[in-house]
Amino acid sequence: MERENRSNVHNDKLFEQIYDYLLERIRRGEWKAHDKLPSIRSLAADLRVHRLTVFKAYQLLKRNGDVYVKDKSGYYVHPGSQSMLGPLNDPIVSAYVHESHLSEIHQVQADYQFSKALLDPNLLPNLYLSEYVKKVFDLYPKVLGTYSTVQGDQELREALCGYFTKGFHFFVSPEELLITSGSQEAIDLVARVLVRPRDAIMLERPTYSPAIDVFSRQGAEIIPVDIYPSGYDLEQVERIMQTSRPRLFYLNPTFHNPTGFTVPAEQRKKLVELAETYKCLLIEDDPGRDIYFGDEPPLPLFSFDTAGYVIYLRSFSKYIAPGLSIAAVACRPSFMNYLIRTKSLSDSGAPLLNQKIFLHYFFSERMQQHLAKLRIALAVRKDIMEEELSGTGWQWTSPAGGFNLWVELPASVPMDRLLSRCMEQSLTFVPGTICDPLRESTSRVRMSYSYLNETELRAGLRRFKEVVFSLTTF
Ligand SMILES: Cc1ncc(COP(=O)(O)O)c(C=O)c1O
Repeated sequence: MERENRSNVHNDKLFEQIYDYLLERIRRGEWKAHDKLPSIRSLAADLRVHRLTVFKAYQLLKRNGDVYVKDKSGYYVHPGSQSMLGPLNDPIVSAYVHESHLSEIHQVQADYQFSKALLDPNLLPNLYLSEYVKKVFDLYPKVLGTYSTVQGDQELREALCGYFTKGFHFFVSPEELLITSGSQEAIDLVARVLVRPRDAIMLERPTYSPAIDVFSRQGAEIIPVDIYPSGYDLEQVERIMQTSRPRLFYLNPTFHNPTGFTVPAEQRKKLVELAETYKCLLIEDDPGRDIYFGDEPPLPLFSFDTAGYVIYLRSFSKYIAPGLSIAAVACRPSFMNYLIRTKSLSDSGAPLLNQKIFLHYFFSERMQQHLAKLRIALAVRKDIMEEELSGTGWQWTSPAGGFNLWVELPASVPMDRLLSRCMEQSLTFVPGTICDPLRESTSRVRMSYSYLNETELRAGLRRFKEVVFSLTTF
């Protein structure tokens, strides 16, 4: 009906609409490079518009280099047009596509992935895990035919309550826990619930790079807080809370990613007090606390919180079972309701099968014993990395746990050239700049010792040193 009307209206707007329509079809790959477009006569008939209108649309495509004319036989798709028009260059799509700098690096296939702060899969008791999969199907024969609740499996939440209360002095009920698909989802949920454009929020500097991407996407005004081997400058924290009244402070105070620093217990208590005074929520991201090399780290900030100012994100992905992608969020019921409602807009809960496997696997005696072995294996790998880098003159603070060394290279090393050279040499690392909320250039790199085995670590680090030395000017 609408088209019929349009067929009578021969104006510029209509030919632009047809131009957009054709361009969209080229972009979607319906016509490939050098494919012939429909003749003017047939398209005009299909669209029930005047032939001159189609002609004008084709002329505009030609002027813009999207099509070419061949031997007066018709219009053909120009070979360059599709790459020029890839989805990321699409002005409509790109307004909503947001970058994830870290995941771009992770997509690079390399022999030596120092960029991956994840456990070497060979360090997990994989055969043993498969026994749990069988057990779960025996125990819950209908598991594949059932959704979880949005908040997460009740049995798992009850087990986690016991675990948190016993080990970390949390007093939470199952209603105060939410199961998510990894803590990345949890960060995103928190940001969607709490942050609107121009809201002030605090992020550590440096920080976990995808958190910068998530909060930037919400349009937050990011205020950086420096983190040091001894924690934060609490005067700086208080000044910011007092003057900028931020909505939240996202922090990773235990074996911090990327630096490995741990905020001491006294500061944790004080931070919770500051949060309460200035009504600033603390989003405590805690994915690596089980991987400690000496003493256990201090209790989470959540353990000191009585007024509900801490939201605790606890991932179990990185060293238990990345393939299951299970994390828990602990917070008070008022805030929990918002999280559940927001999560229900994107899914019906974390996959039930994953939750049940995780439940039986994580709480098994075997897994708990295995954790002790993991700590030793990762401490050995950290020592190897430190040994290989000793004598280079590069600087880092030896971490007491976690997965990474935060290494300062000579200032003369050009970071973008270093990354591209390393990729040519099949090696990846995380450049410090992407961990900086201010995106300033830095000579720091994050090198993970957790993903490669001992032989690969030594070989990869030797290769890395050669590349760095070749770019260093003395
Ligand atoms: C500080 C921090 N937060 C969140 C995540 C994401 O965890 P998950 O794999 O559970 O989504 C990571 C993973 O590297 C991390 O280091």
